Amino acid sequence: EFSGQITLDGPSGTGKSSVARQVAQQLGAHYLDTGAMYRAATVAVLDAGVALDDKVAVARAVSAATIEVGTDARREKVKVDGVDVRQRIRGAEVTRAVSPVSAVPAVRRLLVARQRELVNGADAVVVEGRDIGTVVLPDATLKIYLTASPEVRAQRRAGQLGVTDPDKIAALAADLRRRDDYDSRRADSPLRPAEDAVVVDSTDLAQEETVAKVVALALDAV
Ligand code: C5P
Repeated sequence: EFSGQITLDGPSGTGKSSVARQVAQQLGAHYLDTGAMYRAATVAVLDAGVALDDKVAVARAVSAATIEVGTDARREKVKVDGVDVRQRIRGAEVTRAVSPVSAVPAVRRLLVARQRELVNGADAVVVEGRDIGTVVLPDATLKIYLTASPEVRAQRRAGQLGVTDPDKIAALAADLRRRDDYDSRRADSPLRPAEDAVVVDSTDLAQEETVAKVVALALDAV
C-alpha cells in the first residue's frame, strides 16, 4: 500500500491529468490538480476586469477571490466565489490568460501556500502541476516528470477536444508550444524537472501503460 506524496509535473498535453487521476484512484490516494487552481485564479482575474500585465491588480483580484478546489480523484470541485467553474476553466479565454496570471510571483505565493495546506494531512496524495517537485513539495516520496513529443501532445489534445481538421490541430500545437515556452521561461518557478525526478516519456505509451509505470514506481518507493 502506498502512503506519501507523488508529484507529477510536465508540459501541457502529455495526458498528465488523466494519468494523475488514475494513479490516485489505483493507489487510493487523494488528488490535487494545481493547474485547476491557476485556472480558477484566472477566472477571478478576468471577472475583475483588470489588465493581465498589471501584476499588482492581478494579485489583488486573486487574493480577493474565494477559490475552492477539491482533492477527490473522482469528483473534483472547482469553485470561484461559490460558483462552479469546472467547464469555464477549460475554455479558450481562460487557457489564453492562465500563463501570464500564473507568472505573477504574488499569485504563486498565495496558491503554493494553499496547495501545501490542502496536501498536508493527507496520507497519500498525487499532486499535478509544473513546479510541484521543484517548489511546492521538494521532499515528496516520488517525483515524476511526464513528457511526450510535441506532435503526440497536439494529437492527444485534439482527441480530447474532438478536433480532426489538420489546420486546427496545427493551431493547437502552436498553442501548446506558446504556453510551454511561457511556462519554461518565466523567472519564478519555471517548468523543469526536479533533479531527483524520474522522467517518463509517454510518446510511445498507451495511457494505461503510463499509469502502470507510475503505480509501479510508487509502490517501489515506499
Ligand atoms: O495543467 P494545466 O494546463 O491546467 O495548467 C494551466 C496553466 O497553469 C499552465 O500552463 C501554467 O501556466 C499554470 N500552472 C503553473 N503551475 C502549476 C500548474 C499550472 O504555473 N503548478
